[in-house]
Amino acid sequence: MAEQDKVVIVTGAASGIGAASVGAALDRGWRVCAIDVNEIDVGGLPSGHVSRLIATRADVSDANACEAAVEAAVGEFGRVDGLIHMAAVHSTKTWRELDAAEFARAMAVNVTGSFLMAQACARAMERTGGGAIVLASSGSINVSGVGGHGRGGPAYVSSKAAIVGLTRALARSFAPIRVRVNAVSPGATRTAMTAEYDEDALRKVGERTLVNRIGEAREIASVACFLVSDESSYVVGDIIAVNGGGSFGL
Ligand SMILES: NC(=O)c1ccc[n+]([C@@H]2O[C@H](COP(=O)([O-])OP(=O)(O)OC[C@H]3O[C@@H](n4cnc5c(N)ncnc54)[C@H](O)[C@@H]3O)[C@@H](O)[C@H]2O)c1
Repeated sequence: MAEQDKVVIVTGAASGIGAASVGAALDRGWRVCAIDVNEIDVGGLPSGHVSRLIATRADVSDANACEAAVEAAVGEFGRVDGLIHMAAVHSTKTWRELDAAEFARAMAVNVTGSFLMAQACARAMERTGGGAIVLASSGSINVSGVGGHGRGGPAYVSSKAAIVGLTRALARSFAPIRVRVNAVSPGATRTAMTAEYDEDALRKVGERTLVNRIGEAREIASVACFLVSDESSYVVGDIIAVNGGGSFGL
């Protein structure tokens, strides 16, 4: 498949990094299937983009919904070459507030949902000779988030740590069918997920970086697009930090 003709599925497409990834993928000339549990507003996109886009609602923690969404992409575009999987829920509860239901929800959407979307896409990619998948971990696993003040707590951090293991396991699992798997690990990025950060929290996360600021969604989206493109053909099973040098400031 020629690079400019790629078909890419983007989940979490209604907001934040997923929405930015839809725009970045369309800018590259790709055909895009945008998926979210919520309605996706495509109103602001140029008409040339809309003609290469389908939007579908699906809950990524539901296996049948994942299969149906991938088949919708195949039905419209004939194939799937890439998955940028950004759908996730936040959990900001501290250990005192957290209960089993919230913990299970974070794991079901963020971990099981990542597996189910990757599995459904791999099945489709296998039929057409391969592809590339990008999952989303988080820098919060390195700063041991405790929750509170809008920041990720134990349930969220556990779910994002699990993505590291899942990425590596799927990279090896899918290698025989020529599907590459990697993950981005964003630092704090300006989206709905960080909307509850107060000034103090924003300042602190900025100070942890080498560029003294929070990230923008398009700065994560561009790396996600790179990882599903052929430009990254020798990057396999890796977790790419996109955090303004935040790894140095811990
Ligand atoms: N924003 C940050 O600071 C940050 C930092 C590190 C990692 N991340 C990760 O990046 C990814 C994107 O985050 P974001 O900041 O853009 O979040 P966001 O909250 O802006 O968007 C998440 C999207 O996922 C969708 N979603 C939630 N549950 C879903 C489900 N069951 N099925 C389908 N869609 C569902 C939501 O409707 C929403 O549109 C997430 O995996 C997140 O964990 C974000």
